[in-house]
Amino acid sequence: MNKLSPALESRLSTPLKIGSVEIQSRVLQSPLSGVTDLVFRRLVRRYAPDSMMYTEMISATELHHLKELPKIMEVDPQERPISIQLFDCRPDFLAEAAQKAVAEGADTIDINMGCPVNKITKKGGGSSLLRQPEVAAAIVKEVVNAVDVPVTVKTRIGWNDEEITILDFAKTMQNCGAQMITVHGRTRAQGYNGNSRWEWIARVKEVLDIPVIANGDIFSVESAIECLEVTGADGVMCSRGTLGYPFLVGEIDYFLKTGQILPAPTPIGKLECAKEHLQALYNYKGKQGIQQARKHMAWYAKGFAGAADLRSQLSLIDTVQHGIEIIDRAIIELNNSNKTSVCNKAT
Ligand SMILES: Cc1cc2nc3c(=O)[nH]c(=O)nc-3n(C[C@H](O)[C@H](O)[C@H](O)COP(=O)(O)O)c2cc1C
Repeated sequence: MNKLSPALESRLSTPLKIGSVEIQSRVLQSPLSGVTDLVFRRLVRRYAPDSMMYTEMISATELHHLKELPKIMEVDPQERPISIQLFDCRPDFLAEAAQKAVAEGADTIDINMGCPVNKITKKGGGSSLLRQPEVAAAIVKEVVNAVDVPVTVKTRIGWNDEEITILDFAKTMQNCGAQMITVHGRTRAQGYNGNSRWEWIARVKEVLDIPVIANGDIFSVESAIECLEVTGADGVMCSRGTLGYPFLVGEIDYFLKTGQILPAPTPIGKLECAKEHLQALYNYKGKQGIQQARKHMAWYAKGFAGAADLRSQLSLIDTVQHGIEIIDRAIIELNNSNKTSVCNKAT
């Protein structure tokens, strides 16, 4: 395991300051659409009591037309610090949405300027704002004026390899009042392919005064440390590494604070967590929760003998009971094979 260099240790020993908000952790749980609902965030929070959480991204236009706050925006007062993430291209709708988010308890407002999905970019939101820096600037200014919590931006390094515009873009965001920027080190054209180019994040860090959070390819404690060393960033944000693994943010945070590695959860520990996740999704969302749980269950069922078979069974669950029975059978099999391997070792 990499040890923290003394320079890194001293750089990370103070709280992360996002404007007026102080966070006692340098590891953040990213916004993940379809994933980071209240149920998932509660699981992450259990292992990462100090870290910043993010909601799934929320459309400001949709919010403008809704009479009631959508469930996706619901925040539990106990889960702070939390950022509510918004996306759109209309500064006025974003300002209005930000005010609703603050009323709901957001500690910061994050604006999504990185989503690569066509449906979003065609309407001028997400990463398409990298190509319209004047609109992005107007958005940040208007939202900053509308709320008294810090406004932050999450973006990518550029639209494609010919347009890596992050240095100017990030400076513009800072000049307009953004209090932190998270940089995913891929272009929009990359989607989620290839590497996150941390070297670009290092260059952003060199030219900004506000905190810079590094994102992309943080899948372990080791990769988090390497990323912090390479980029000089003020923190790291975990994304796909948390799918089926709500322990990751806590594991990295624990290492940064203590220099110690937490024991990894066993396959059985992960499956117990999967059962809890399934039950909680159903309690929170009813039938729709079961549907959403199928993908989570598949993510938990990885990395042990029989996992592929378990995944295909879990992709068909239609009740909590059904899911729990399948997982319980897998736990019994894992327990039996553990006993056999102990016997084999003993003989
Ligand atoms: C399923 C999924 C949903 C995502 N939803 C969001 C989102 O709502 N808002 C956002 O800013 N980024 C979103 N992202 C991007 C991630 O936050 C992150 O920037 C990206 O996955 C890169 O990090 P990674 O390489 O560690 O996964 C999403 C990514 C995935 C895979």
